[in-house]
Amino acid sequence: MAKILPMTAYYPGEIENDLISLFMNRHSLDRDQVFLASGSNEGLQAAMMAFGKRGKVISPALTYSDHLIFAEKLGVEVQRITLREDMAIDLEAIARAVDNSVSLVYLCNPNNPTGMVIDGDELRSFCRALEGRVPILIDEAYNELTDKPDFTSMVDLVRGGANILITRTFSKIFGMAGLRVGYGMGHPDIVSLVKDHVMAWPNGVGLYAAYHSYLDEDFIAFSREKVLQGREMVNATFRRHGIEPLPSQTSFVYADIGKNADEFESAMAARKVQIRGIYEGYDTYSRVSMGRLEELEIFDRVFSEVFGG
Ligand SMILES: Cc1ncc(COP(=O)(O)O)c(C=O)c1O
Repeated sequence: MAKILPMTAYYPGEIENDLISLFMNRHSLDRDQVFLASGSNEGLQAAMMAFGKRGKVISPALTYSDHLIFAEKLGVEVQRITLREDMAIDLEAIARAVDNSVSLVYLCNPNNPTGMVIDGDELRSFCRALEGRVPILIDEAYNELTDKPDFTSMVDLVRGGANILITRTFSKIFGMAGLRVGYGMGHPDIVSLVKDHVMAWPNGVGLYAAYHSYLDEDFIAFSREKVLQGREMVNATFRRHGIEPLPSQTSFVYADIGKNADEFESAMAARKVQIRGIYEGYDTYSRVSMGRLEELEIFDRVFSEVFGG
């Protein structure tokens, strides 16, 4: 990044192609199956604009939702399908809800905020069953943190020409949230349609950092290891207080703490620890994201104080 700063008087140039080539080579995809975005949010936003014009969007009721809320502001109808009792995404109910009025199905795998992963084979069957009926957008922001990233990803279906779009990001395992780099991999027609709905040009410093980070396998392994270590620390904090967190394969943990999550969030914030409050009516669930390990030690202490009253 320091090296590229003097060049930022100019538009980025070749680095865009270089970065896209990395994704093409890694996943054996063609150029027209890949696009870059300023964070995966830009890809999600563009997909909402592109497909929302054509009909309803279906999503799980509890999921990452910034782009869904954005779509609703554009006048798009978003149909939210309740999670199963075990907090998993209800693929059967989603499949049943698909009819001619639906333009897109959005799934987040692993899901945010539950952290839970959809089994790769189940998701493959779901995608195959809906092939030809509706495009599927799969948000794989946390894929690299899952137990089996290749099995969990649907990129093999993209390679086979399926009517799906995957979004990925440099904001999570790569630790580059402030640099705004994401990318998408999908059917050429979907990629072209989504690209038509992005006007902004990418941030060259971010692209440079992304290119070199993507090749830095030691760093990726280090980052993954630290997140997994942090996850175990947070799980241990919850369990020490008799709380069984949901099985997370992401960089956060979601758990039913049996207390009002907004009030708990405020009480933690008053002690300078920031966690999340209520999502979508799950009033007693809190979400805790991995900070640095030293910060999680503070979280552990403060959680004990606040939870113990
Ligand atoms: C599931 C999911 N998708 C997408 C995003 C957006 O990330 P970015 O735009 O930084 O790639 C987030 C951020 O928290 C997320 O949790």
